[in-house]
Amino acid sequence: MSIAIVTGASSGIGADFCKELDDRGLECIWMVSRNASRMGSLADGLSTPVRIVPCDLASVADRDSLRALISEEAPDIGYLVNCAGLGRFGDPVGMPVEDARAMIDVNISAVVELTSACIPFMRPGSRIITLCSEAAYVSTYNLNVYASTKSFIRSYLDALRLEVEDRGIGVLEVSPGWVDTPFIGDCIDNHDVPVKVFGHKVQSIDVVRKALKDSDSGRRRSVCGFQTRMVIALASHLPGFAARIWRGYWK
Ligand SMILES: NC(=O)c1ccc[n+]([C@@H]2O[C@H](COP(=O)([O-])OP(=O)(O)OC[C@H]3O[C@@H](n4cnc5c(N)ncnc54)[C@H](OP(=O)(O)O)[C@@H]3O)[C@@H](O)[C@H]2O)c1
Repeated sequence: MSIAIVTGASSGIGADFCKELDDRGLECIWMVSRNASRMGSLADGLSTPVRIVPCDLASVADRDSLRALISEEAPDIGYLVNCAGLGRFGDPVGMPVEDARAMIDVNISAVVELTSACIPFMRPGSRIITLCSEAAYVSTYNLNVYASTKSFIRSYLDALRLEVEDRGIGVLEVSPGWVDTPFIGDCIDNHDVPVKVFGHKVQSIDVVRKALKDSDSGRRRSVCGFQTRMVIALASHLPGFAARIWRGYWK
């Protein structure tokens, strides 16, 4: 029996991944985030044994401890779900450096470091599922740092897929548009963001169910929602035009 490691398990998409992985016959789900009590409440509703791993993924020391824990325990890892992430609106001058740093640390460094730590304990059929974003495809005015972290992840996953192919490990990029979770309010914080930016939202559970189905089918990318698929198609062919449309929301 294998385990799943799910980061960002205390809320939103990560919490829904834990619920949907509950009936997959796993030995244990390792839930990783900062908020142990929220993860504990969620764990109470699961039938799979849970290990709560409090960890601030923005902290190098915490990330190193998590990597050390994985190598000491050498678990059989069936799923790594990289879900923890944060976004903040802001312009290049006004954005506090702490916000930019946290986005880079959690959205990029934690994904790269944790993935490297897990691969040696994965086997053929294991899955790496990572939250990317529609924003990885569009240069996003006032959400630049966040979108750029996701562009990094998109590129990282494309190469990783080939790097672990011989090990039989599947790599899935999950790229939703806006998803109805606390992430959106945290992103806005105290910024004045035009309402039409959030023109279409999907539900977290739909993103997760589609992602697991796409992962089971060995797909490379999972995109929930017709509108997001259209945005990604447009941005892939006409990136400058897509970026101008996004910027136009502020004008
Ligand atoms: N919601 C959207 O519109 C949307 C769209 C596209 C992509 N995404 C991506 O989907 C992923 C999940 O987002 P969500 O919508 O589920 O947001 P959410 O409900 O706000 O959940 C974010 C999760 O990340 C964890 N996290 C944040 N900072 C952390 C840190 N320093 N250390 C450890 N864990 C941390 C949070 O846990 P703690 O606070 O307990 O630490 C929480 O469990 C993110 O990668 C996000 O970029 C979201």
